[in-house]
Amino acid sequence: MITENHNHGGCLNAYPNVLGTIGQTPLIQLGTISKEVGIPVFAKVEAFNPGHSAKDRIAMFMIEAAEKEGRLKPGGTLIEASSGNTGYSLAMVAALKGYKTIITVPDKISKEKLNLLKAMGAKVVICPKEAPPEDPRSYYSRAISLSKEIRNACYLNQNHHPTNAEAHYRTTGPEIWKQTEGRITHFLCASGTGGTISGTARFLKEMNPDIQIIGIDAYGSVLKKYHETNEFDPVEIYSNTLEGVGKSIIPGNTAFDLIDQYIKVSDRESALMARQLARDEGILVGYSSGAVAAGLYKLMHIFRPEDRVVLLFSDHGSRYLSKIFDDEWMQAQGFIDPNEVDENELDTRGISKATSSVRRRVLTYFRDLVESANILP
Ligand SMILES: Cc1ncc(COP(=O)(O)O)c(C=O)c1O
Repeated sequence: MITENHNHGGCLNAYPNVLGTIGQTPLIQLGTISKEVGIPVFAKVEAFNPGHSAKDRIAMFMIEAAEKEGRLKPGGTLIEASSGNTGYSLAMVAALKGYKTIITVPDKISKEKLNLLKAMGAKVVICPKEAPPEDPRSYYSRAISLSKEIRNACYLNQNHHPTNAEAHYRTTGPEIWKQTEGRITHFLCASGTGGTISGTARFLKEMNPDIQIIGIDAYGSVLKKYHETNEFDPVEIYSNTLEGVGKSIIPGNTAFDLIDQYIKVSDRESALMARQLARDEGILVGYSSGAVAAGLYKLMHIFRPEDRVVLLFSDHGSRYLSKIFDDEWMQAQGFIDPNEVDENELDTRGISKATSSVRRRVLTYFRDLVESANILP
């Protein structure tokens, strides 16, 4: 909300500080994707938040709740386990409110996210991604133990504290409902803590219980199986490179009863799709946004011509320049062929005809995916 600011230099129509710019992110129609899927597809692009991710919304809500509940005192230290985005948003709010921030992160987080956390003044504790949640070395356990060791510390607990989902119930859900004029039929969203999908779903289902809520889960995560069988199966857990998608725990913020189905997507299809989104739509979004768009292609067979689909893109692609937008990283993962030459580079070498472009390979891959969607259950 813009407020008139008479006290600081008479500058009218200014935000009192950066926190006022959180939320009210745009809904953008996706051109190429809408054409390929055959129905209007829109993206709620959360990179337009000042911290470039949806986590700005929950940082404000969680900190204000902790203040009200007396768990957070002036000058205190915020502690959170985060794949990076929540940590950054918390550090941003903390900078304005005078708190210190310590973030425990899994060692798979991108270098960009690590440096962003430090740039915003957070202290970072890097933990092995393989450590199971109950292992004292895991990023969950380290956050809890630090909050006990440090005086005047507050563990915000985005996985279980209900203010996470509440932030999306109060902001993201109503924004999408208004932006689609109530015509949304399907909502696709990555599921990590579950706060984004569950809070948004609660609002949308209250408005229209027929809206289909589709969670995007990663291979290596327990969520889809738990949703379908009510069983927590540790065999489902293995390490992957996706950030923010899937879980090795059952987060209290995931309202499984509001989610109609989960779709699993692979690291590779998510990375390729994020790269394709930049080239086709001009929108540079993160790894999990690629996962959501890849999930859409797997569901193509369910849509009717009158449907209106909203994808939630959680963060900005600049956070993954050293991962999915780096050809060497992609090759090292086996996601693209080392013999392929990117057509961007062909220009600089003066080769006129791209006979084997990455782009063509990616398009062929997704065309195959589209065709296979017709035979998927
Ligand atoms: C990049 C990214 N995408 C998606 C998510 C999932 O959001 P949520 O935790 O609300 O389920 C996260 C959460 O960490 C994230 O960082």
